[in-house]
Amino acid sequence: MMAKKSGGLADVIAGQTAISTVGKEGIGLTYRGFSIEDLAAHAVFEETAYLLIYGRLPNQLELHAYITKLQKLRKLPASLLIILEQLPSSSHPMDVLRTGVSALGALEPENEERDQYAVSDRLLACCTSILLYWHHFHTKGVRLDTESEHESIAGHFLQLLHGSRPSDLHLQALDASFTLYAEHEFNASTFAARVTASTLSDAYSAVTTAIGTLRGNLHGGANEAAMALIEAFPNPTKAEAGIVQLLQEKKLIMGFGHRVYSIKDPRSDMIKSWSKRLSDETQDWVLYDVSERIEQLMRKEKQLFPNLDFYSASVYRLLGIPTSLFTPIFVLARMSGWMAHLIEQRSSNRLIRPNAAYIGPEPAVWRAIEERA
Ligand code: COA
Repeated sequence: MMAKKSGGLADVIAGQTAISTVGKEGIGLTYRGFSIEDLAAHAVFEETAYLLIYGRLPNQLELHAYITKLQKLRKLPASLLIILEQLPSSSHPMDVLRTGVSALGALEPENEERDQYAVSDRLLACCTSILLYWHHFHTKGVRLDTESEHESIAGHFLQLLHGSRPSDLHLQALDASFTLYAEHEFNASTFAARVTASTLSDAYSAVTTAIGTLRGNLHGGANEAAMALIEAFPNPTKAEAGIVQLLQEKKLIMGFGHRVYSIKDPRSDMIKSWSKRLSDETQDWVLYDVSERIEQLMRKEKQLFPNLDFYSASVYRLLGIPTSLFTPIFVLARMSGWMAHLIEQRSSNRLIRPNAAYIGPEPAVWRAIEERA
């Protein structure tokens, strides 16, 4: 195990939460007391989102009503469609989502009639529409109908992306990945959202903050960077040589390591098994075999384990998803965790405003501009 450096608020308890536990005993992840293993195996994503946002598991009637409500909230206002059309086709989809959420905050602001729960529902339901309306308009010149008969967000995403109903296997793989990505305690984007919420700002501003924070390669951007790395190698032998070279150059290998887990990321084995199942389905194991070789080498050379982002890359590729939509998928799922934290922060709010240790110059003598060297 690598020694931890100081800084970056590592090991600092920055607040309390009843939403999740991460890395107790170096492994382990729970959402409101339920293990991630149980949730990923048995719950649909909407059930998980309800648990996170509303604080308890829904019964059958409640889950049905929730899914139906979300399904009805997918349509975008016409003025947002115009904004999405005017963003460049070269934009990163994370910039599109950040802009789309921010614009929606101006068009449908949070207020007494539209409270934080209504905003949660709306954002969970319509971010797929924002993303894929922009995607289809700029890749095919098509003005997409952002509604589909598919009930689940995962099914809706795959149907809008590919224009056909996904297989059960594909639907379950994406749905499970949404649950794995849904929540992770005080990760950087959630913490950023809580800081924004703590100033008594609105929910859209908190989510816009979070999307901007998630975008970077040390956080959500790692799944895209991991894909670029894995795809660069045609076979495991080339991958091994390539990774040895990158490690010699002291490069970071994206999709490995974690600030909190010290033994393993419990989500990795679950997403890895989806990668295996999807590879078996296509009978194309190149990405899986390359990934596994990189995993073995990183364990041997650096004692580092894959995090959720590493095998998510091959899962998403095997679902036919373009790389630039990988981090946005993280947004679709983590929206549930962000909103749960915003609600929790507001329930016992105090402005988040830490101190800094000053390391600048000693008190200095002011000199008029004409007297300066
Ligand atoms: N590849 C190569 N070396 C890595 C590494 C990786 N992915 N992750 C950590 N290390 C090394 C660091 O270089 C450091 O070595 P050093 O002490 O010789 O400089 C040591 O392990 C400790 O890492 P540190 O930078 O202190 O970890 P952190 O807690 O600050 O950062 C991450 C955690 C996740 C940001 C870091 O592991 C990383 O950058 N991973 C790649 C990006 C990624 O996958 N992000 C998604 C996280 S879910």
